[in-house]
Amino acid sequence: MISKRAFLFMLVLMVPLTVILTECYTGEDKKPDARGQIFAGSATCVSCHKNVYNSYIHTAHFETSRPASIETIHGSFEKGHNVFSFGNGSTVEMQKKTGGLYQAGFVNGKLTEAKRFDITIGGGKAETYLYWQGNKLFELPMSYFSALKSWTNSPGYDTGRINFTRPIVTRCMECHSSYINELPNPNISLTNRTVEFDKASLIMGIDCERCHGPGANHVNFHTEYPEIKQAKYMTTIKGLTRQQKLDACATCHSGNKDVFNRSAFTFKMGDTLAKWKEHNFAPQNTNPATLDVHGNQNDLLASSKCFISSNMDCNSCHNVHQKETGNLALYSQRCMSCHKTANHNECKLMPKLGMALKKNCIDCHMPAKPSNLIQVEGSGNKVQVPYLVRTHHIAVYPTETKKILAFINKQDRR
Ligand code: HEC
Ligand code: HEC
Ligand code: HEC
Ligand code: HEC
Ligand code: HEC
Ligand code: HEC
Ligand code: HEC
Repeated sequence: MISKRAFLFMLVLMVPLTVILTECYTGEDKKPDARGQIFAGSATCVSCHKNVYNSYIHTAHFETSRPASIETIHGSFEKGHNVFSFGNGSTVEMQKKTGGLYQAGFVNGKLTEAKRFDITIGGGKAETYLYWQGNKLFELPMSYFSALKSWTNSPGYDTGRINFTRPIVTRCMECHSSYINELPNPNISLTNRTVEFDKASLIMGIDCERCHGPGANHVNFHTEYPEIKQAKYMTTIKGLTRQQKLDACATCHSGNKDVFNRSAFTFKMGDTLAKWKEHNFAPQNTNPATLDVHGNQNDLLASSKCFISSNMDCNSCHNVHQKETGNLALYSQRCMSCHKTANHNECKLMPKLGMALKKNCIDCHMPAKPSNLIQVEGSGNKVQVPYLVRTHHIAVYPTETKKILAFINKQDRR
């Protein structure tokens, strides 16, 4: 039995210990945001925006860059499925070892180089992987392509050669992460584009503040005044112009053609993209036939009659807080909010096809088209597979219509 005195003594000891432990804990929690004190970090948003937060964290945006692990890498490490062959004696083997997951290059059976998977980019159609070398980031030679369910040569790489040397530049991360700090580098040149980063500054995934802008003042204000139900210190979306709303997405969805005069990481909702761009005297491309489907939804949509004749923006069809991938019936409902009998602008095929149409306007009017920028190569250096992306040039596509009609007719006959 412990005496009363000893018990009291222990209690006295425990109190400061608990205080120290909680202090340490909250100290850890409040690790300063690499973007500065005006940022609060996404985790702080959950206390007041629980529903938005809990659905948002499952979206492709939030998951676009993640630590590489067996959960985030979808390619196989099992024997028989873990080797990519270039067809000329060069192979890359995906290896599970203590200390991590590796890509190992072999030429005629001899190991040349092995690097660890550190970061996974993507996850829907394709995944690509990055590794750290000191403060530098490089892309690994092998990517994963969902349509093939297999490893592929990373897009744009030489078809016959294993390449571990492609540097990752800041621009890549501006679209695929929330922040990374590029270190000043006096040696950068046209031939040496490798940049160095402050490794600890990387904030993976596209977080709340990457779109909405810094939120620390907003959080502090509403924590202090919980009775105030109108947003303070946060851009109000209702008050934005159509162009401002479009620009909030176009910063990452208008292709990779623009050169910005300041860090794209500082772009936030309500800003005007035109002010971010270096002078560009090239004429604007408005020809949908030459706009690539990959990464340029903004310009393709702008070339559509739908867009020209209405006030639509990206949010007319997308709720970015929700994972809606593949839910074509839901998207079709959004088409029908404008295209309905009452408005005399419903689909011309509606009288003939009726219900069969309503669940899927998309495959006929926004078909998936091959990208010219990205091509995918299967193992053995034989198969070239197209990289398909939904076009945002909304129009009538006779070839796709024929295919879908044939499909509907076949179903009817069953
Ligand atoms: C202490 C509570 C609190 C926290 C924490 C909080 N918010 Fe808010 N937020 C509010 C309130 C209250 C409103 C106004 C009512 C509403 O729209 O829900 C609001 C509204 C908003 C709006 C809508 C603006 C508009 O009117 O268009 C956005 C966007 C927003 N918050 C983003 C964030 C982000 C990002 C974070 C995390 C960095 C965050 N909030 C954290 C309380 C909070
Ligand atoms: C910081 C850059 C960035 C901004 C800002 C941004 N996006 Fe994206 N978006 C991406 C990237 C990168 C992907 C691909 C993510 C992936 O699959 O890894 C993507 C994917 C998507 C997808 C496909 C999602 C899926 O499930 O496959 C939609 C839809 C989309 N964005 C819409 C929008 C809309 C609408 C806005 C504006 C409100 C917007 N995005 C703003 C970078 C951005
Ligand atoms: C890809 C850009 C993007 C990201 C990332 C993003 N939002 Fe939003 N958010 C928007 C847009 C666009 C709207 C306006 C939607 C509309 O008007 O239809 C919006 C609206 C809101 C609103 C007000 C309307 C509502 O739905 O309640 C809140 C609150 C909000 N966002 C909070 C958050 C929080 C919290 C996060 C992170 C968990 C987040 N957002 C991440 C683009 C984004
Ligand atoms: C200007 C913005 C932008 C830049 C720069 C950019 N991407 Fe993307 N990336 C996107 C968008 C938007 C998508 C998805 C939509 C699409 O394909 O149109 C995407 C898709 C991807 C995907 C497929 C994601 C999936 O879930 O299927 C991978 C992998 C990827 N990008 C890797 C990279 C890498 C690696 C870099 C840098 C070397 C890079 N991207 C540079 C915007 C960008
Ligand atoms: C914000 C309202 C709105 C939404 C949402 C909308 N549209 Fe439209 N769309 C229009 C308007 C307005 C026109 C022009 C009609 C006209 O000139 O009579 C149009 C035109 C079209 C055309 C004719 C194109 C051409 O080149 O002749 C097609 C096809 C079309 N829309 C399909 C769709 C599909 C599919 C969706 C959903 C993915 C959709 N629209 C969503 C407003 C909208
Ligand atoms: C008229 C409706 C409509 C509008 C407006 C619209 N989208 Fe989409 N978007 C869709 C549909 C439908 C899909 C296909 C969804 C699917 O297959 O899961 C899609 C898919 C996407 C994808 C994924 C493409 C792929 O194949 O991987 C991205 C990225 C995207 N939209 C971005 C945007 C951006 C950015 C804007 C504004 C410039 C925008 N969208 C405006 C209807 C629309
Ligand atoms: C099987 C393919 C197919 C499907 C599914 C389909 N459409 Fe169409 N749509 C067409 C074709 C083909 C035309 C052109 C018909 C013509 O001009 O005679 C057309 C025409 C249109 C037009 C232009 C009408 C005009 O006045 O010129 C609109 C708007 C439209 N569709 C919207 C939709 C919407 C909304 C849906 C989903 C509810 C849908 N379509 C589903 C093939 C399709």
